[in-house]
Amino acid sequence: MIMASAIEVLAKQAMKTFSDRFCQKSFDKLWSLMNKITTEDVKLDKNILDYVSRQPAPMCVMDIFENKDITIAIFVLKHGVTMPMHDHPGMYGLLKVISGAVELNSYSLKTKSDHVIKSNEEIAAVRHRPISLQSDSSACILTPSEKNLHEITCVEGPAAFLDILSPPYDVDEFGKGPRPCTFFKVVKSKLCTESADIVAEIQLSVIESPPDFYSSTLKYIGPPLKDYCNK
Ligand SMILES: [Fe+2]
Repeated sequence: MIMASAIEVLAKQAMKTFSDRFCQKSFDKLWSLMNKITTEDVKLDKNILDYVSRQPAPMCVMDIFENKDITIAIFVLKHGVTMPMHDHPGMYGLLKVISGAVELNSYSLKTKSDHVIKSNEEIAAVRHRPISLQSDSSACILTPSEKNLHEITCVEGPAAFLDILSPPYDVDEFGKGPRPCTFFKVVKSKLCTESADIVAEIQLSVIESPPDFYSSTLKYIGPPLKDYCNK
């Protein structure tokens, strides 16, 4: 019998977790598997990281797997780059840094999770205390209501992180659909000192996707998942 690779075991657990009704135990197991993933497991080597530094795009994306329930991908940010503040509407997410270091700023909306954001409204949110993440840090979690928005700055680059999202973003070719990715900016901010986790009360407004932030694609060369996962 051939041993399944770590990424296969992870993908299988992600599918189990997100194809059924949400189960905390299954999610916890997924989180602990995610915490063990390394660059070797996905064959992300120095050549790839060097290539990212040399090419022009601020970020490179390596798609690993997608079906109707989950998306698995690796994002590689160049040194000093910030992935602008964006949301993951109605989605769960796990983010595990596997190389370099990032600073993660997370935000939770104060609106109900089924609230549809209009482009001209101001939205109340809270900013959580920023956290630094590197390859020995545990995976960060976002949920439909908690820390659903974030911005990610590469402080030691290139920085690579593995991302599992469920369900996937869902947009048509014109960028419209039930789960689009929306970008935001802070329009008002009031410091908050009474809470350990929340550092500010803020107001956000929707912005067009930032023109200077774009990505190019990288080919995934780690253990294949497609055949395995469709069984
Ligand atoms: Fe994100």
